[in-house]
Amino acid sequence: MTTPTRDDRFSFGLWTVGYDGTDPFGGPTRAPLDVVHVVEKLAELGAYGLTFHDDDLFAFGSSDADRDRQIERLKGALAETGMVVPMVTTNLFSAPVFKDGGFTANDRDVRRYALRKVFRQLDLGAELGAKTFVMWGGREGAEYDSAKDIRQALERYREAVDLLGQYVVDKGYDIRFAIEPKPNEPRGDILLPTVGHALAFISSLERPEMVGLNPEVGHEQMAGLNFAAGIAQALYHDKLFHIDLNGQRGIKYDQDLVFGHGDLHNAFALVDLLENGGVDGGPTYNGPRHFDYKPSRTEDEVGVWESAAANMRTYLLLKERAAAFRADPEVQEALAAAKVDELAVPTLSPGETYTDFLADRSAYEDFDADASFNGKGGGFVRLQQLATEHLLGAR
Ligand code: GCO
Ligand code: MN
Ligand code: MN
Repeated sequence: MTTPTRDDRFSFGLWTVGYDGTDPFGGPTRAPLDVVHVVEKLAELGAYGLTFHDDDLFAFGSSDADRDRQIERLKGALAETGMVVPMVTTNLFSAPVFKDGGFTANDRDVRRYALRKVFRQLDLGAELGAKTFVMWGGREGAEYDSAKDIRQALERYREAVDLLGQYVVDKGYDIRFAIEPKPNEPRGDILLPTVGHALAFISSLERPEMVGLNPEVGHEQMAGLNFAAGIAQALYHDKLFHIDLNGQRGIKYDQDLVFGHGDLHNAFALVDLLENGGVDGGPTYNGPRHFDYKPSRTEDEVGVWESAAANMRTYLLLKERAAAFRADPEVQEALAAAKVDELAVPTLSPGETYTDFLADRSAYEDFDADASFNGKGGGFVRLQQLATEHLLGAR
């Protein structure tokens, strides 16, 4: 059960296992990995999918011949292993030209160039059968308030996403867009910094139904937010189109640790929500379980594959622990005592109008707030300790 299979739908970015260890303070610690080797290794470890930015597969500025050669090599590896490409995305951040953004650069020529780069990657994604197109706008932002007109930047962002949506519709591509929020890094402040900001932005679009979210564990946690709660809200609005799983320890730089190597309690809550949170107790999300992590800078290639396997194994261990948590009669009893289910009961009765409600003296005039509270606790800590004990394998 903790050995990954294709059915688990685990996918990895080419840039994740391919990260060479370069950071702002020092050069690479590992040699580059070839895409064919990556596909073979991931398939061997039990993953089903590979995702990539254009520039991960063919270097920025490649000739058409070099680009085509790399695409053919990838296609060969996919055919040989049975791996798929569920998602693609565009690199609008590495080349110096994008230092002030792609869709929202102050320089209009840069915006036009960025959009053309995305159109090209959209065509490739469609050709490879990708169903999701992620948009992470790491350079869409600013360091200085006076240097960026935020309202105009949002307007240009909207213009770009609307145009891309129009293109996908006209081309008949079976692709949806997923915006990935992040509060900062590399920009001092990034536009659409959290799940909530991105949800509001989506509602301003011409085709909001085509655009959802690709939230990343570490990004919400960099903003001090509860990731599982953010995912619950994304699900509530039917906007969880994709997910980036990794680990983060608090409000600091984007650590991209292995899934579960950060806030393990929240990772447990997340897996429980994804796997058991449906109304029928089934999964709430059927898309790829995508890992966007970085093998640590201290590791060699052995460590790269160990960490890739660790992401999947941790996810499956948490899935197993979450199933045990849900099946435990004491947990069911504690959930009932904490009235967790009662929140599903509407506050007004069927057919009850506000006139009826205002006439109901028991709701207010005769309601005894002291008696109702009567020193009774919620029992929430007991529930959390039961979750902790399941998480630790102590039950
Ligand atoms: C980051 C982001 C990226 C995106 C990727 C796909 O913080 O660097 O998480 O890794 O996920 O660009 O859009
Ligand atoms: Mn990240
Ligand atoms: Mn990411």
